[in-house]
Amino acid sequence: MRMGKTAVISGASSGIGRAVCEALLRQGYDVVGLARDFAKFPCRHPQFTAHSVDLSALVSLPARLKRVAETCADAEALICCAGRGQFGHLEEFSYEQIRELIDLNFTAQAYLARTFLPHMKRAGRGDLVFMGSEAGLRGSRRGSVYCASKFALRGFAQALREECAASGIRVTIINPGMVLTPFFDDLDFGPGPEPANYVLPEDIADLVTSILSTRSGTVFDEVDVSPLKRVVDFRKKRGKE
Ligand SMILES: NC(=O)c1ccc[n+]([C@@H]2O[C@H](COP(=O)([O-])OP(=O)(O)OC[C@H]3O[C@@H](n4cnc5c(N)ncnc54)[C@H](OP(=O)(O)O)[C@@H]3O)[C@@H](O)[C@H]2O)c1
Repeated sequence: MRMGKTAVISGASSGIGRAVCEALLRQGYDVVGLARDFAKFPCRHPQFTAHSVDLSALVSLPARLKRVAETCADAEALICCAGRGQFGHLEEFSYEQIRELIDLNFTAQAYLARTFLPHMKRAGRGDLVFMGSEAGLRGSRRGSVYCASKFALRGFAQALREECAASGIRVTIINPGMVLTPFFDDLDFGPGPEPANYVLPEDIADLVTSILSTRSGTVFDEVDVSPLKRVVDFRKKRGKE
């Protein structure tokens, strides 16, 4: 059942973004997914369009996003889920790695909003939903660069929320704790094994569908979501088990 609304989702090939795609497709949205590798999510749904975009290629990104936007200028929702985790003491990062993480987790998301916002403003409505993190709420050991990227995203979302309200556009940032996704595959920690140690990507997707379906006069400014128990598994690189 087509509902006649289009949502653009970054990070659509995996984890939270993929779950959001699936939930919105179930609701009848036309979904435009952005990621580098859709072999991970070979979705054949007739209302799904995949665009292969490397969000870390900042120089060519504005032109690439403009071409995507021309195919879906009527998009009513932009859900920014792309991002990655990299953790360690600051001196373990090269200068280039610091820039790359900020480029992807913050600057590319700002470019996405910059691309779609003018279309939404012309339409007088729209939703921007950013995937922040609990790392954007409080700095933590080994998280200096990741936390900085998520603090930046949170400040950006808060400012846009004020800036865009008069144009009928709602801005939300979701700050999850540990969500059970491939995010942890190359990290040396992850959520503990019990279901109470993690949030499921489908839980975040349910939250996104609620945010989008709430009446237009109400805004979820910021939503913190965390597992009931914060048990962290520090054992090994989980993808290598
Ligand atoms: N999992 C958690 O515990 C957790 C907690 C708090 C916040 N978050 C945030 O939630 C977001 C989604 O994470 P996730 O858990 O769903 O992780 P995930 O399963 O690893 O998914 C990450 C997504 O980002 C995309 N991506 C990564 N680099 C990209 C690039 N250069 N260009 C385009 N797309 C790129 C990936 O697609 P390709 O690899 O196909 O490009 C993938 O679709 C991230 O912003 C993360 O910081 C996650």
